[in-house]
Amino acid sequence: MSEPDYNDAVRILDALSPGRTVVLTSALDLRPLLRRLQDERPREYYWSVLEAGPAQYRVEVGRRLTHGARAVSEYLGGDNQRLDAILDTVRRLVREGAHQEAAHAFAEFSCGLEWHIDAEETTLFPAFEEKTGIREGPTRVLRDDHRQIRFRLTEIAGALHAGDVAGIERAIAALGSALDEHRLMEDQVVYPLIDQAMNDAEERDELVRRIQVT
Ligand SMILES: [Fe+2]
Repeated sequence: MSEPDYNDAVRILDALSPGRTVVLTSALDLRPLLRRLQDERPREYYWSVLEAGPAQYRVEVGRRLTHGARAVSEYLGGDNQRLDAILDTVRRLVREGAHQEAAHAFAEFSCGLEWHIDAEETTLFPAFEEKTGIREGPTRVLRDDHRQIRFRLTEIAGALHAGDVAGIERAIAALGSALDEHRLMEDQVVYPLIDQAMNDAEERDELVRRIQVT
């Protein structure tokens, strides 16, 4: 079988107005499409992976309003806000007793947060350590936090699966407070410091580009 060329998806995205988003759903892995967008349409789009297989892949792709260089604070800080909004939706759905919808929203949240953590650990933290020379400071604390956060994700998934409402609420509250502290260090220390440590806007954008393809 020949490799998919994703031309139809590219046509849909090229027709998208700046500021608008679209959700693409496919049985095929959409990562090759995202890499192609980066190569052929640099700085044109942003995206969030909503579902990463194996049965189905879903990605929300938005067209940027400008082609300006991006910074880590804006890019990963924005992703943190997006994830917070999904977690609020999960909390609301649990309160309303809509457990199936809550599980669906949580799967999307979990997929996004796993990606975010992975991008930080494989790309952002090594860049931070190299650029600032600080290896045993904030990135070590944040890596420890990530282990705790991943444990909470497993706990919530288990409670949702068991329909244990009290357990779900307890685990989401524990995740929420772990995330609050974690985000404070990211948003106020690590993201601004790495942005400042870069030589110029082009170098900042190049790091965002590398984070984006994680
Ligand atoms: Fe993090």
